[in-house]
Parts: sequence; structure tokens; C-alpha cells
Amino acid sequence: MPSARFATQRPATALAALACALGLAACSSTSPGAGGVATLDGQPPLVVAHRGASGYLPEETLEAYARAIELGADVIEMDLVSTKDGVLITRHDPNLALSTDVASRPEFAARKRTMQVDGETQTGWFSQDFTLAEIKRLGAISTDAERPQQYNGRYKVPTFQEVLDLVKATQQRTGKPVAIYPETKNPTFFRDLGLPMEDKLIAMLNQAGLNSKAAPVFVQSFEPGSLKYMKSKGLRTKLIQLIDGDGVDMKTGAITYAVPVDRPYEWTKAGDKRNFDVMVTPAGLAEIKTYADGIGPWKRYIVSIKGTIGADGKAIDINGDGKVNDADATALAPTTLVADAHRAGLFVHPFTFRNEKRRLAANYQGDPVQEYLAFYRAGVDGVFTDFTDTALTARAQFMKERGAAAR
Ligand code: G3P
Ligand code: CA
Repeated sequence: MPSARFATQRPATALAALACALGLAACSSTSPGAGGVATLDGQPPLVVAHRGASGYLPEETLEAYARAIELGADVIEMDLVSTKDGVLITRHDPNLALSTDVASRPEFAARKRTMQVDGETQTGWFSQDFTLAEIKRLGAISTDAERPQQYNGRYKVPTFQEVLDLVKATQQRTGKPVAIYPETKNPTFFRDLGLPMEDKLIAMLNQAGLNSKAAPVFVQSFEPGSLKYMKSKGLRTKLIQLIDGDGVDMKTGAITYAVPVDRPYEWTKAGDKRNFDVMVTPAGLAEIKTYADGIGPWKRYIVSIKGTIGADGKAIDINGDGKVNDADATALAPTTLVADAHRAGLFVHPFTFRNEKRRLAANYQGDPVQEYLAFYRAGVDGVFTDFTDTALTARAQFMKERGAAAR
């Protein structure tokens, strides 16, 4: 259910504030509705639909993006990988087995292979082995067995251009501004295959009239080199450095690191052994500020969790469901990362917020709204969410508690 901010009839002040946050208009720290919000620009946090309405429909499809826009997302997020013929398509992984029905297609059985992706050995069918025409014969599937499966195979894999066209058509029809948040996925991997993505992305944004700092566009990557390259080649949109981690040490709440999410793959290739954690230090943030406008950290860098440790040194299954996961842990007090990043002039968009109870720390009592509230109160500038409607409900509640009108 969309919040008031996204009702069809919106007051002019609300539209002006949204346009400001999306970079469509000049912002003022005294904008209406800005009261009491600790974001970098004083505006309510943005709701970024992670891979579209991926909690409801097969991710990164036109249908998932359209649903997210209907639900009221400020921004739709997409991951870009390359086809064999060099077309940018929206998939989270080059391995198509993870998000399409390719494994059930006898005509492609011989394409199955084992290869390294960013240092991780994977078996499957890979986007660089398929032309766009071949990929268009596949159907997208849910990447989470606990989410709706009835849409599997019904929707196609879109090109990035098709998503740009969808956004443009929707804006023309509704007048509602919607921003995009494309990510160069595995950029070194694709460059090594002779299928670099960056110049194509810049050309497409130029063609769409979206290559400016004020454009409703956030370009993201886990690899600093990809962002720096695009900046050097004339990309002028807002740029976001993503910051990953593998897991949490349930004993201490410290973030753990493992291939392929221990560091940018370009660092691994160069023999640089530092992990992503160097990016959240004051020096790391200052370095990021030299080429980017914001950070997209895994949410555990802002609010981590801690379990209860048993005599065997392992985390205890507190709720007795036979599994040890986030639901058996307690959320800790927020770190200083949001304040540190804001001090460095960077906005902060943590990922990824999900409704499933097993993914919520015990102190949220199974209510995902409580998790959003903890992050909104910590001053984040936006959230990547699989459930746009829940993020909006939480934002309306947050703005109410801050005494400001939800826009
Ligand atoms: O791009 C930000 C966020 O989407 C990163 O998480 O899992 O989609 O790579 P993931
Ligand atoms: Ca992503």
C-alpha cells in the first residue's frame, strides 16, 4: 500500500521535495517537509526498489520495475551484465542459472560450464555465452525459494535500454519522477572477456539525456576503477561506491570477509589484500569523496547484529526453529558510519532491506518496519529494498514521528 507521499493527488510542495531529492530540481535545506531529518540534504530518505519489486515478482524484469513504480518507489535499481553480442541486460549475475529457466532448456544444455567469476568457481550458463536473441528465449525466475514462484518463466530478461524506455514512458504517462540506479556488475570480469560495459552505459545515458549531476540517475559499482573510469570518460551523474561484506561474527558483531565479497575484484587481481572495511574509515571515505557522491554499504556496517554464544562457542538457535540466522540475533547500536560519511560529504544508501522474518534481528519482533525505522533514525539517505511498500510505510511513520509531512 503506497504511503501518502505517493498518492495520486500529491501537493505541489511534496512534488517539489521529491524532485529535489531525485536531483530534478535545486534543493534547499529549508524545503517544506524537511524538519528533523538527519539526511545529508535534510530530505526524507529515498526508497530504492532493489532489482524492482523483487519481493513480489521475478527480479530485474520490466514487470518487476513497473510494479515498483506503481508501489511508489522513488528509484528503481538494476544490475547490468553483458551478452555475447555486447548488449547490456539487467541481471544480478552473469550466471543465468540463478535467475532464469535456462537449466530447463535442452537447446542450451551444451552451454553449461564451470568458470571463475571474481575468483569464485561457478557452474552454470553465463550471459557472455549467449546472444541477446538467445537470452530473449529465456524466462526469468524467482531467486528466492520462499518468495512467489507462480510467475516463473512468464517474463523476459530486459535490456537496459528497455528499462530506460519504460521509465520514460511511465513518467510521460503519470508525470511522476522516477530515478534509476544502474550498477556495473562484475566490471573487471566483463572487461577481461572483451565485453567492457562502461562506455556503453555512458553512451546510453547521454542518448537518454540523463548524463548530468542533476539527472535522476545514480551509477553504482563495487569496483572503484569502474566508477573512476566512467568519471574520466565524461560520466557526470551521481556516483556511488558500494561496500560489501560476507557475514557477521555472531560473537562480536564484526563483519567477516570471504571471496568474492571480500574486496573489489580489481584489488584481488592486483594483489591488493585489503578488504572492503578500509572504505569505511575516515581515510577511506575521504578517498571515495574524490570520485563519488555517496556510498552504498551493506547495512551491517551501520547496524550490526550479535548472537548468543553457547558453551560450544557457536551461536544458539534462540527461537528454536532449527536454524541459526538473523532472527536469533540482536541488533546493536548504530555505528558512526552515517555521521562519518556525511561529514565527508557523502550520502549513504545501505542495502538490502527484506521483509522475511528470518532476516530480521529479534528485537524487531518480526516487523520489518522496525528495522527501517532504526536506519531512518540513524540518518541514512535512502534504502535499497525488495519491498517498496514496506519501506514507504516505515518512512511515513518516521516522518510523522519527526513532525514533518511525509512527501
Ligand atoms: O547495489 C546495491 C545492492 O544491490 C548490492 O547488493 O546483492 O544486489 O549485489 P546486491
Ligand atoms: Ca545491486
